[in-house]
Amino acid sequence: MTRIALTGALGRMGTLIIQEAAKVEGMQLVAGLDVIGAGRELPGGIRVRDASELEAALRESRTDVLIDFTIAKAAVENVCTAARLGINLVVGTTGLSPEQHAAMRKAIEGNCAAVISPNFSLGVNVFWKLVAQAAQSLKDYDIEVIEAHHNQKKDAPSGTALATVEAIAAALGQKEIVYGRQGVMPRGKEIGVHAVRGGDIVGDHTVLFAGSGERLEIKHQAHSRASFASGAVRAAAWVAGKSPGIYSMADVLAQR
Ligand SMILES: NC(=O)c1ccc[n+]([C@@H]2O[C@H](COP(=O)([O-])OP(=O)(O)OC[C@H]3O[C@@H](n4cnc5c(N)ncnc54)[C@H](O)[C@@H]3O)[C@@H](O)[C@H]2O)c1
Repeated sequence: MTRIALTGALGRMGTLIIQEAAKVEGMQLVAGLDVIGAGRELPGGIRVRDASELEAALRESRTDVLIDFTIAKAAVENVCTAARLGINLVVGTTGLSPEQHAAMRKAIEGNCAAVISPNFSLGVNVFWKLVAQAAQSLKDYDIEVIEAHHNQKKDAPSGTALATVEAIAAALGQKEIVYGRQGVMPRGKEIGVHAVRGGDIVGDHTVLFAGSGERLEIKHQAHSRASFASGAVRAAAWVAGKSPGIYSMADVLAQR
């Protein structure tokens, strides 16, 4: 039995993760925490605990894996708490600064196993591979990364867009990155990155490779958050019992 706890239990992702986890045999939600709604009953009968009670909740519930889908600052604190207790992690929260990422990694190293990914969907993990392959074949084309998300999203560009840029840069060697353009800005050899925000768009990512007389677009569109939630639950089942280290969704998908 894999005993999971969830921070951000009442959020958009948290709500779906609870539903997905309930479908998995051998997985049990044993704690749900949030900064809102303490005492509210979650499916399965457990009650939301206030975020300030994380350490006590993890100890009392004998959690195997903590899944975090919150906000950047909270994610770092939650990861530090779980890592100190040797509890394995799935971290989906995005928008962390490089310093916050470094603090999170430092807390994890040697203490627990963690799957960290800005996108847990199967399709996006294939998209990253295709984009890297195209970048290698179209080295001299102009490259633009365009992402679109709902109007409640806090960070921009999305963690998925940033990971996409990293995949391209890794395929091509270091590249300059330009975030949006305004005023007189002649195009150089940079990767352009653009964030669109509106309505209830779940998450679109397009990479445009534009050359002379043609262009290639590679696009992923999430229709619902269920693809992220089922991936996160799959990662939780995978990481339970893994030895300490930082893993990606590619590691999870490599072992079927
Ligand atoms: N990795 C992925 O596949 C993936 C997919 C979708 C969203 N995300 C990211 O996940 C995060 C959450 O997204 P969302 O759409 O569910 O947001 P949301 O705003 O709907 O939910 C976040 C929840 O976290 C709670 N929260 C805030 N601080 C907390 C704390 N200290 N402890 C516990 N709970 C706390 C909020 O009250 C809220 O209920 C964002 O960073 C988003 O970009 C990642």
